[in-house]
Amino acid sequence: MNRAEIMAGWLPETATPKVSAEHFAPSNIALCKYWGKRDTELNLPVNASLSVSLDQLGSRTRVEPIESVSDEVWLNGMRQPADSRFASRVSAFIDLFRSRHPELAFRVHSVNNIPTAAGLASSASGFAALTKALDDAFGLGLSPTQQSVAARLGSGSACRSLFDGFVEWQMGVREDGLDSHGVRLEQTWPGLCIGLLKVDESEKSVDSRAGMQRTKETAHLYQSWPLQAAADLSRLQQAIETRDFALLGSVAEQNALSMHATMIASWPPLLYWQPGSVAAMQKVWRLRAEGLAVYFTMDAGPNLKLLFEAASRPALEAQFPGLEIVQPFGV
Ligand code: DP6
Repeated sequence: MNRAEIMAGWLPETATPKVSAEHFAPSNIALCKYWGKRDTELNLPVNASLSVSLDQLGSRTRVEPIESVSDEVWLNGMRQPADSRFASRVSAFIDLFRSRHPELAFRVHSVNNIPTAAGLASSASGFAALTKALDDAFGLGLSPTQQSVAARLGSGSACRSLFDGFVEWQMGVREDGLDSHGVRLEQTWPGLCIGLLKVDESEKSVDSRAGMQRTKETAHLYQSWPLQAAADLSRLQQAIETRDFALLGSVAEQNALSMHATMIASWPPLLYWQPGSVAAMQKVWRLRAEGLAVYFTMDAGPNLKLLFEAASRPALEAQFPGLEIVQPFGV
């Protein structure tokens, strides 16, 4: 089954865009990473993953039907060239919703309120917000689970950005991927903090999509990744259940480093770290040895996301000037 066939099942015969629509979706930080696909067309993962959504930080996306032969895609107030990677991915995603009306064109405005210094990927929140906006504009009335499946077709990690709080992306077993979507966990964790530590904000040369594919195809070490991720996922569930911060932090950090180990073992090698990334990791390890409960996670880039609890906040602000702190569950 291809992407269009999956969406077609949800499009009523009469689906026409009635209105403009605007929606917000949060960014999410994975504590157990999604790395590798068993189906590249449908973004079906090799492993289940678990993230925490960033409350008020994410993307606000507006779609409006326009009289034109092609879509217009704007990102943070700047019109994107139609052949840019972002604009073509957005247009290809809209195609899934307008398959019964291919003549329709849209203007899409997507604005990220993630601090620019954070170096956070925006495709997850962007595709989640776009999914909600298109669902609304076409009057489809998809459930949050269906929206999560649809958002996954745009970008895998977007399926977790349909929900607040802790979210598990269940990998599913079906070939059509209808059982591969985010599920919100009941538990909360007031006082859990994430610090966005910028090391370098230049554009990465190999994005997550290409990076995970290269890793899966070329790194023998990748064979151990599904086992590591499955073990980490259940330990994270236990940490969240019992609010065991040392367990949560240590599993998240080991999971991120294990993912990076598989990248480094790819060919050509993929090393997203800068000297500043390594220096920051060593500083975290030193502070931890001195008794400060702080851990980190990293995605396919050089920046760190520090994990700590509210009581450690003043100490960390002193150690890392410019740290952007978010509290996913409020105070
Ligand atoms: C390292 O969701 O951006 O951030 O499905 O190809 O769009 P595509 O990939 P994407 O990959 C995110 C990878 C990650 C880990 C994670 O967020 O789980």
